[in-house]
Amino acid sequence: MEITVRELREEDIPRLAEIEAESFSMPWSAKDFQELFTHSYCRYIVALADGELAGSAGYRNICNEANIDNVVVAPKFRNIGIGSALMREIIAMGEAEHVEGFTLEVRVSNTAALRLYEKFGFVSEGIRPGFYERPREDANIMWKRYTI
Ligand SMILES: CC(C)(COP(=O)(O)OP(=O)(O)OC[C@H]1O[C@@H](n2cnc3c(N)ncnc32)[C@H](O)[C@@H]1OP(=O)(O)O)[C@@H](O)C(=O)NCCC(=O)NCCS
Repeated sequence: MEITVRELREEDIPRLAEIEAESFSMPWSAKDFQELFTHSYCRYIVALADGELAGSAGYRNICNEANIDNVVVAPKFRNIGIGSALMREIIAMGEAEHVEGFTLEVRVSNTAALRLYEKFGFVSEGIRPGFYERPREDANIMWKRYTI
């Protein structure tokens, strides 16, 4: 299977919103993705598996801190390296624009995502109690920093 990564395009949004709905209890809507195009500080990419939309990831670069707010792979394409391909690319993009660090929140029970982020050098820096709803759960706050 050929996995490719490129920038998010407006035509990706309908399928991406479906992948979100398949993956999260509080998914981003098509409108949420559409808004990304109105903010110059947003960087969003998608992964394609043999040309089929398979996932997305992105960050908001706020004062050189890259906030990763959405990483998702369609259920049928998980565990074959697509999440890793997305992370590799957004980290390269952030490094190219000299971010000082990446940060994200992840449900404490989300083993797959925790493994993915740890693989790319993210470490836990704290817990935000009750951060998530549906179901209520703590968030693990993770960072990958380039400065001390
Ligand atoms: C988290 C997610 C993006 C991972 O994507 P993926 O394409 O399956 O990830 P990869 O195949 O690149 O795997 C990355 C690492 O995580 C590990 N991993 C993947 N799924 C796993 C699972 N179910 N349990 C434990 N580890 C897992 C793999 O072992 C892999 O490490 P390795 O390369 O050393 O073997 C995907 O599971 C997903 O979309 N989940 C639902 C949405 C979500 O929770 N997003 C994160 C929100 S913070």
